[in-house]
Amino acid sequence: MKAEQPHNADPNTNSVRKLLSETARQIDSLLPTYLPDPSGPAATVIKAMHHSLPGGKRLRPLVVMQAAETFGLSAQAVIPTACAFELLHTATLIHDDLPTIDDSPLRRGRPSCHVAFDEATAVLAGDALIIAAYGALARQALVEDTVSKAVLRVISEFADYTGAAGLIGGEAADIYGEQIEPDAELLRYIHLNKTAKLFIAAARAGAILAQATEEQIRLISNYAEKLGLLFQVTDDILDVSGEQQALGKPVGADQAAAKQTYPALLSISETRRYADELAQEANQLVRQLPNNQQLWQDLIDLVLVRRS
Ligand code: IPE
Ligand code: IPE
Ligand code: MG
Ligand code: MG
Ligand code: MG
Repeated sequence: MKAEQPHNADPNTNSVRKLLSETARQIDSLLPTYLPDPSGPAATVIKAMHHSLPGGKRLRPLVVMQAAETFGLSAQAVIPTACAFELLHTATLIHDDLPTIDDSPLRRGRPSCHVAFDEATAVLAGDALIIAAYGALARQALVEDTVSKAVLRVISEFADYTGAAGLIGGEAADIYGEQIEPDAELLRYIHLNKTAKLFIAAARAGAILAQATEEQIRLISNYAEKLGLLFQVTDDILDVSGEQQALGKPVGADQAAAKQTYPALLSISETRRYADELAQEANQLVRQLPNNQQLWQDLIDLVLVRRS
C-alpha cells in the first residue's frame, strides 16, 4: 500500500516533487516582493508577515500554475495569482495558530507568529497578508495578454471561496466542532470549507485565466475538491502518526483539542481507506483533462504518501 511507504520510496512522485520544489523556489523568491520593507513605526507587523512566509510547501501556487498550463496558458503567466493564494493561505495559518483558535506554538518549523511576536501583531500581520493577497490578484491584470474580465472573475471567486461561506466558515465550524461529538456531516463541511475550497479556487483561477471552457472549469474544480479533501484527511492522519520534525508543527494537537477529525470519527485504517477512495475518484476525473494528466495523478500520490 502506497500510504505505508517511506517518504521517498515512491518513484511515481519523483517528477511532481521536482516540479513542486522548482515552483517553491520561484514563489519563495517572489512572495517578499508583495510586502513592504520593514521600516518605520509599523516595522514589527511587517517583520511578522515576513517571518511567517518561509517554509511552506507552496502547493496552492502549484495548483494555480499547473491548472493554467493544463488549459494552454503558461504557468509563468499566472505568477501574481499564484502568489496571492500563498499570501492568503499564510494569513489563515497565522490566525489558525492563535491562542483563541488552535493555540499552536510551532509553524513551518519556526515559532508561530504570535509566539515570535505577540497576539496583536499576529492578528494584524494576518489581516495585512489577506489584503496583500487582493493586491497580488489585481496585479495579475498587469501581466501582458491577461484578460481583465478573467481577473475580475478570479477576484470575485477568491472572495466567495475564502469568505464566511468558504474557508472562514470552515474555520468557524472547526471551532464549534470542538464542543460536540464527532459528526460525519459536520466533518465533511469542515474539510470542504476550511481546506478544499482554497484548492478549488486555486484550480479554477488557473483555468479561468487560461480561458478554459465552463465544462473544463467544472472538471478541474471537481478534481481539486477531491485533492483538497484528501489533503485535509492526510493532515488529520499526520496529526496522529506524523513527526513534528518533518511537519514543522506539533502532532497530537487535534485529539488534545477534541477536534472533529476522521481519525476521531473512524479508525485509522478506515480513514486510510477513505483517503484511498478520494484518490481513486480524483484519478478518474484526471482522465478527462486535455493535458498534464500524469502530473495531476502524481500529485494525488504525493499527497497520499506525504510526511510533511
Ligand atoms: C496547512 O497547510 C493547513 C491545512 C490546510 C492542513 P499546508 O500543509 O499546505 O501548509 P504549508 O503551506 O506547507 O506550511
Ligand atoms: C487549518 O486546519 C486550515 C486552515 C484554514 C488554516 P488545521 O488547523 O488542521 O491546520 P494545521 O494542522 O494547524 O496546519
Ligand atoms: Mg485549525
Ligand atoms: Mg491548526
Ligand atoms: Mg491539522
